[in-house]
Amino acid sequence: MLNYTSTSFLDLPHANHEDLQAHHDFVEKRVLSLKKGITALREKSEQFQHLKAKHLDFSQDAITIGSRDEISREEYDGLYRVLKDLHPWRKGPFNLFGIDIDAEWRSNRKWDRLLPHLPDLKGKIIADVGSNNGYYMFRMASHEPKLVVGFEPYLNHFFVFHMLRRFSGLTNLEMELLGVENMGLFGPSFDVVFLMGILYHRISPLECLKEVKEAMSPGGTIIVESQAIPGDAPVALFPEERYAKVPGTYFVPTGRCLQNWMIRAGFSDVEIFCSHRMSSTEQRQTEWMEFESYSDFIDPEDSSKTVEGYPAPLRVFLKGIKPT
Ligand SMILES: C[S@@+](CC[C@H](N)C(=O)[O-])C[C@H]1O[C@@H](n2cnc3c(N)ncnc32)[C@H](O)[C@@H]1O
Repeated sequence: MLNYTSTSFLDLPHANHEDLQAHHDFVEKRVLSLKKGITALREKSEQFQHLKAKHLDFSQDAITIGSRDEISREEYDGLYRVLKDLHPWRKGPFNLFGIDIDAEWRSNRKWDRLLPHLPDLKGKIIADVGSNNGYYMFRMASHEPKLVVGFEPYLNHFFVFHMLRRFSGLTNLEMELLGVENMGLFGPSFDVVFLMGILYHRISPLECLKEVKEAMSPGGTIIVESQAIPGDAPVALFPEERYAKVPGTYFVPTGRCLQNWMIRAGFSDVEIFCSHRMSSTEQRQTEWMEFESYSDFIDPEDSSKTVEGYPAPLRVFLKGIKPT
């Protein structure tokens, strides 16, 4: 049985050690007693656990873990099949032992937009909320943080991340099988929080921002990225059922509205540093993600509208500080 939990939280003096230990005991049990489909996923992700990469590069668009000449032809073919079985790959790209994974999202583009606006990450304790397979956590790793904790409640992403981390041998990236609503377990620990692609999925975005703030150390930086609607008025769209075909979407704000939420949640120095239109060059179907993607979510007659007739999404990026 591989280890899916860590003790890094013991080094965080403000974390609730007792409750986190109880959560980790629960995760260990859960991983052992999974339903058939999830067990199959775990077994796949563990199949090549013996591979340890020599060549690592997290500073380029594709997260590179291992090179082609580090593994045999047989291992390459087997690993390729396993990675294909772990479909869909939503975030990427990755290059794993020479295998290129062209994920649905070109997540490197989001990272490039963030990069000039980031605080120094070296030696910092960072949270990546909604960390998915860990793409951004690996990008953060090239900045030498002390610890990056991903919050991701879904087991499929959790297993894929653990597979990637095992290949990489990194020890300063951890993923918790927890949601943003559980960040309070860490107390005021995080120097930097990335809250990307989360707020429009929360029933109460303001409460969510407040919960995140409680988990941040005074003076810490929050980076927020969200779907948004165009316009300067401080308003949010509340779709009847789905927005761009995605269920579980609640409030889709304008940039100004999101700025106000952050200010009212208690952040200071809140600024919008980037806003751009979405496009099918950044989010699209590939051989590693064969389901519907951006172009299926947009009105084919009018690209300024979603298929439901709502304004097509922008992406906005903001940052703010937790006052000392
Ligand atoms: C839209 S994706 C954004 C992924 C990534 N942060 C990015 O910006 O590309 C939302 C992610 O949040 C995860 N998620 C779902 N519920 C969550 C929760 N309650 N707390 C934190 N993450 C959650 C999903 O599994 C998914 O990986």
